[in-house]
Amino acid sequence: MTSAIKLLQILDWDSPRQNARLREELAAGLLQPQAAIAPKFFYDALGSRLFEAITELPEYYPTRTEAAIFDEHLPEIRRALGADFSLIDLGCGSCAKAGRLFHAGVLPARYVAVDISVDFLRDSLQNLKRELPAIDMTGLGLDFTDELRLPDDLPPERRMFFYPGSSIGNFSPHEAHAFLKRLAGLMDCSGGLLIGVDLIKDKALLDAAYDDPLGVTAAFNRNLLRHVNARLEADFSIADWQHVAFFNEAEARIEMHLEARRALDASWPAGTGRAIRRFVAGERIHTENSYKYSPQGFRTLLAEAGFAEIRMWTDPRGWFGVFFARQGNTRT
Ligand code: AVI
Repeated sequence: MTSAIKLLQILDWDSPRQNARLREELAAGLLQPQAAIAPKFFYDALGSRLFEAITELPEYYPTRTEAAIFDEHLPEIRRALGADFSLIDLGCGSCAKAGRLFHAGVLPARYVAVDISVDFLRDSLQNLKRELPAIDMTGLGLDFTDELRLPDDLPPERRMFFYPGSSIGNFSPHEAHAFLKRLAGLMDCSGGLLIGVDLIKDKALLDAAYDDPLGVTAAFNRNLLRHVNARLEADFSIADWQHVAFFNEAEARIEMHLEARRALDASWPAGTGRAIRRFVAGERIHTENSYKYSPQGFRTLLAEAGFAEIRMWTDPRGWFGVFFARQGNTRT
């Protein structure tokens, strides 16, 4: 008999309370002297699809490099995860990465897929369930950077958190430390973390990965304003904003911005003039940081957050690292 998918917590972006919170967050970010929009707003339904397209680009090496590391080191990764574990996939997107592991025979007792993009999550999980009906699957539509409430019936033992794709790089190192510490607190010493991390490399390679000649990353970045217009009922004229992305070597991070092509105003709710942000030509909205780590730097981050027995697998060029670490608190 096959088990059904459970969709438990669903982040209802459009519940009045949640919508009001998100609008406040957006408005506060836009009204700062250095305007900023949190990267979570990239992922409306179109933004999630545009991100999937980015992962197909020849210049965007992280996804395929990480996949090659999983393929190459599958037996060791399987041994590290062990048997009878729950896989908690953070920011599962299309569930493709977990799906690849499952098809390669790394099978959890339970799969918990977490993503902020609820409709995308529902479709992805339904497709995966069709392919792998025997795995018990649960979907959580929530902003796990805010809170991560796991299903009440999830066994506390052998919780393996899966955080691929170097999404940890979208936190500042300080936020990453706090987040990893929270994860360590959600497992006992039989639990672990399998995490993908993009490594520091040549600036030219990094610049190209985030500013591709087809303009897919530019579309992904500018789609943010389409999402903001919808959510805030704002009137950003998308054509007046250009994509800017570069590797900031001093901070070891890619920065993405949207830059005003001319002096312009954006207001919300559109037409009412109730809130207005004036931008001068060349002014930027900071939309994303993507931090890159050295292998030692990330080991230290993991250890300081409460993890132990840290291992890393990498590709022949040393571009990307897949780390596995156990919860290091022997008292749990
Ligand atoms: C999701 N995240 C890990 C991507 C990254 O590489 O930081 C998001 C992205 N932004 C532009 N291209 C991809």
